[in-house]
Amino acid sequence: MRFQILFIILTTILNIAQARAEQSSCISCHKSSEIVSDTTVAMAFITDDIHAKAGLDCSDCHGGNPARGFGEEDPDLAMDPAKGYKPPPNRFGIPEFCATCHSDIEYMKKYNPRLPTDQLQLYKTSIHGKQIFGKHDSKAAVCTDCHGVHGILPSSDSRSKVYHNNIPNTCATCHADKNYMNKYSYNGLPLPTDQFDKYKQSIHGVLVLEQGDKAAPSCNNCHGNHGASPPNLASVSAACGECHPNNQKFFNNSPHKKPWVELDLPECEQCHGSHLIKPVSDDMLGVNSGALCVECHDQDSPGFAAAAQMKSDIDTLKTVLSAADSIISQAEKKGIESSQASFDLGKSRDALIQIRSTIHTFDPEKVIEITKPAIINAVNVKASVDHELQDIKTRQYGLWISLLLIILVIILLRIKIKEVDNKIDIK
Ligand code: HEC
Ligand code: HEC
Ligand code: HEC
Ligand code: HEC
Ligand code: HEC
Ligand code: HEC
Ligand code: HEC
Ligand code: HEC
Ligand code: HEC
Repeated sequence: MRFQILFIILTTILNIAQARAEQSSCISCHKSSEIVSDTTVAMAFITDDIHAKAGLDCSDCHGGNPARGFGEEDPDLAMDPAKGYKPPPNRFGIPEFCATCHSDIEYMKKYNPRLPTDQLQLYKTSIHGKQIFGKHDSKAAVCTDCHGVHGILPSSDSRSKVYHNNIPNTCATCHADKNYMNKYSYNGLPLPTDQFDKYKQSIHGVLVLEQGDKAAPSCNNCHGNHGASPPNLASVSAACGECHPNNQKFFNNSPHKKPWVELDLPECEQCHGSHLIKPVSDDMLGVNSGALCVECHDQDSPGFAAAAQMKSDIDTLKTVLSAADSIISQAEKKGIESSQASFDLGKSRDALIQIRSTIHTFDPEKVIEITKPAIINAVNVKASVDHELQDIKTRQYGLWISLLLIILVIILLRIKIKEVDNKIDIK
């Protein structure tokens, strides 16, 4: 019953919106290919645009009188400056044009109280906004570059240019275009245009672009939507910690925190990179060539010793884990029920995962607190499965020996019978 009422209310609202849209002279005229040269604007608006769905008309953005002009076949009656009609804004005017509504808290509340109203304010702090407003540089992104113009969709719509998984391509239209971006510099060098290329190959990019993952970051998770932050290192780094909170927490309490601040190094990116973040490997740790640690720590430093220690703890855990794993699979081949052993070994496997974030304490003591019990556990599991395998071997030996004995007895019996037979024959 409640749903029915809700349904009726909803359809009524939709009908009113529809009716209003139908009555609009703007739409009627702009839909008609006999009158205007380009009907795609009106068609895109009425089929998909969130503003049309919210019941808005062309005149809500452009001004003018939507009650006049179509019947009279006179655009001037509709597109009437006296009724507030103004020509469409150019690129420099767009942010403020959109913001007439989007920065108006009272107005927006009537439609969607949960929608933020800080887009223009944030945009002004971004490099895009600073280029547009401060430098009169029309190349920087304005609202419509990222959202479209007629046919604007909410970001939750998978066809939207700002849908999580589409954002990298939206940013790449400019940022991967060498010619378009050629006049900019960054830290004294030409502004790179390889962000999208690198991102595509990164663990984050593969998840977002190939697997439609929503948990992995798009460009905006690190750079902001409207703040599209200049790579203000502190704020971009803080983004990593929002999704990798343990690593962040460990890092903050680690001996690296202080030197990183002093040397003005980017926190996580120093070791992982920014756009080309690859899945980690244990080889990043330790003192072999190729390990990160030896880039900065030479042989006699405490950092060097710590790196060697932590790597050796992980390697030991991995060795006993793989020994335990292989004995379990041997046992399974022999038909020994070993699901409990496999379950028990899980604790050590989990430790290996846990250890990879604990690394960020850069404290061998913290690492050994986890590896030690995990190593002992794996050794115990291996011993118990070993024991069962031994047991079965002993039982198998027993079986063979009794079988041999039986055969021996049979042979002796046969010899005995033959002897008895021979004796009877002689007689
Ligand atoms: C009688 C038909 C008619 C009506 C009614 C009408 N328009 Fe137009 N409009 C036109 C024509 C014709 C053009 C010229 C461009 C073209 O041929 O596509 C135009 C152009 C425009 C432009 C582009 C102007 C520019 O400088 O580039 C906007 C914006 C516009 N109309 C908005 C509106 C709005 C808003 C309404 C309703 C208040 C409206 N129109 C009502 C026929 C109409
Ligand atoms: C959400 C606000 C908004 C609504 C609603 C809207 N427009 Fe626009 N319109 C713009 C902006 C902004 C521009 C200029 C930006 C650009 O051209 O890239 C523009 C440009 C135009 C132009 C110039 C040519 C073009 O393709 O850019 C025409 C014609 C036009 N609008 C007609 C309409 C008509 C007809 C409707 C209703 C069916 C409508 N607009 C609804 C914001 C709006
Ligand atoms: C550089 C690209 C870019 C520019 C420029 C841009 N936006 Fe956005 N906008 C986004 C992204 C990305 C999202 C969020 C998508 C999501 O929800 O993850 C967004 C979200 C929004 C939303 C939904 C509410 C919110 O704040 O999350 C509104 C409304 C919006 N933008 C309006 C605007 C207006 C108005 C302007 C111009 C002043 C503008 N945008 C400029 C990229 C942009
Ligand atoms: C006349 C007022 C008005 C103007 C001008 C306007 N908008 Fe909107 N906008 C709205 C309203 C109302 C909604 C619908 C809110 C809802 O129902 O969720 C909306 C919704 C949106 C959304 C969807 C937000 C979401 O994710 O739910 C985006 C994106 C957006 N507008 C972008 C723009 C851009 C870009 C411009 C400039 C080209 C613009 N708007 C101009 C009133 C306006
Ligand atoms: C319409 C083209 C265009 C689009 C789309 C665009 N940008 Fe930009 N972006 C620029 C231009 C131009 C600059 C200015 C470069 C400069 O001043 O160094 C810039 C600057 C930046 C910067 C600052 C670089 C610096 O020099 O410090 C970042 C970060 C950035 N954009 C991120 C994004 C993200 C993220 C998106 C997508 C959500 C995006 N941009 C979409 C054109 C664009
Ligand atoms: C995981 C976080 C993250 C993601 C995702 C990300 N960036 Fe970045 N981006 C950074 C960091 C950190 C820097 C600063 C790098 C530096 O200065 O060494 C940066 C720098 C930039 C710069 C300045 C020039 C440069 O290359 O150093 C631009 C432009 C940029 N990013 C655009 C993008 C675009 C476009 C995307 C999406 C395809 C994107 N970023 C995705 C973290 C990210
Ligand atoms: C001094 C170098 C260094 C710094 C700084 C660093 N990491 Fe790591 N990180 C590593 C190494 C080494 C590994 C791989 C450990 C392994 O697999 O044995 C790793 C592994 C990871 C992993 C995968 C393991 C897991 O926890 O899931 C993530 C995620 C990660 N780091 C995120 C971060 C974040 C976020 C920051 C910043 C707060 C950061 N890292 C700072 C060296 C570093
Ligand atoms: C929006 C959330 C989000 C943000 C922001 C983010 N990541 Fe990730 N990251 C993920 C997800 C999801 C994965 C894949 C699952 C996993 O392995 O944890 C991942 C994977 C990784 C991995 C590989 C882990 C492995 O097991 O091999 C590293 C390293 C990493 N991120 C580092 C970073 C760094 C450094 C930053 C900041 C520059 C960052 N991430 C920002 C969500 C995020
Ligand atoms: C970008 C350079 C850099 C990298 C890479 C790096 N460190 Fe460091 N580390 C430092 C600096 C600088 C200090 C401050 C003390 C010093 O100068 O030795 C430090 C301090 C330490 C300390 C504390 C030493 C003490 O004096 O008590 C440990 C432990 C440590 N690092 C371990 C590691 C490990 C393990 C790795 C590899 C995963 C690593 N570091 C990678 C620069 C680095």
